[in-house]
Amino acid sequence: MTDPMANPRIIDGKGFAAELTARVATAVATLVPLGLVPGLAVVLVGEDTASQIYVRNKARQTVAAGMRSFEHRLPAETSERDLLALIARLNGDPGVHAILVQLPLPPQIDSEAILMAIDPAKDVDGFHPINVGRLVTGAAGSVPCTPLGCMLLLEHRLGGALAGLEAVVLGRSNIVGKPLATLLLRAHCTVTIAHSRTRELAGVCRRADILVAATGRPGLVRGDWIKPGATVLDVGINRIEGPDGKARLVGDVDFEAALKLAAGVTPVPGGIGPMTIACLLRNAVTLACRQHGLAPPAM
Ligand code: GUN
Repeated sequence: MTDPMANPRIIDGKGFAAELTARVATAVATLVPLGLVPGLAVVLVGEDTASQIYVRNKARQTVAAGMRSFEHRLPAETSERDLLALIARLNGDPGVHAILVQLPLPPQIDSEAILMAIDPAKDVDGFHPINVGRLVTGAAGSVPCTPLGCMLLLEHRLGGALAGLEAVVLGRSNIVGKPLATLLLRAHCTVTIAHSRTRELAGVCRRADILVAATGRPGLVRGDWIKPGATVLDVGINRIEGPDGKARLVGDVDFEAALKLAAGVTPVPGGIGPMTIACLLRNAVTLACRQHGLAPPAM
């Protein structure tokens, strides 16, 4: 039972993302008459099925929002040098305002060198060290898409009243855990980052008013890890085999158990995933405006 209409405790990320995407499309429509069509380039190296699906979805939604989409699919054996050359071209292309290199990259490519090569002004993921630094200090930069989606959903759900809340982030990745913890801190939460070496993990999670699971471990968060009335965001997207032998997607949280205790919980699919793509489009429009000296429209 994941129909958000059926239970107000289910946080409708998909619906909120559709509203955000509509606001982005409205913003784009105000820029086009000024001669600015925001352009997003997505680079995928290799044939990972899940990544291919993400990239296809991203391209479709980019075009649907009235923006330009540039897709670059490179073979798995692409050299670091060739990928760097492509990034240099995209950095210099005035039609490309935003660049995303899908992670993970194949082992022969040094991801850090690639992320460093993206022009920070076009870094739609906010993964360049310059933007990571800006995130930590609170300066204007790009904010990683999944953490931004989590924050917008939390602010919407909690009416902006985040100050003073206990937030526990499970997972310490550069893509989700660390930037999200930073954003929660900027929103005046008391933040704990918990991970696989944390002692008394269940007890730490039970303190959380806001619990975010981003570990990639299906069903890790049990019902009794959740404080009654907490808001739970499930960032996990795990492909497992269901009882019928078919593959299905589940999160890091035991969803049915969480639903009994939490004030709100995001489903998988239909929760954080759609927010990530909506925030990608929003970030791309923001970057395009900055590059043209325009104030980004409200989105
Ligand atoms: N791989 C998984 N999530 C992401 C993301 O947000 N950005 C990029 N570039 N790669 C990813």
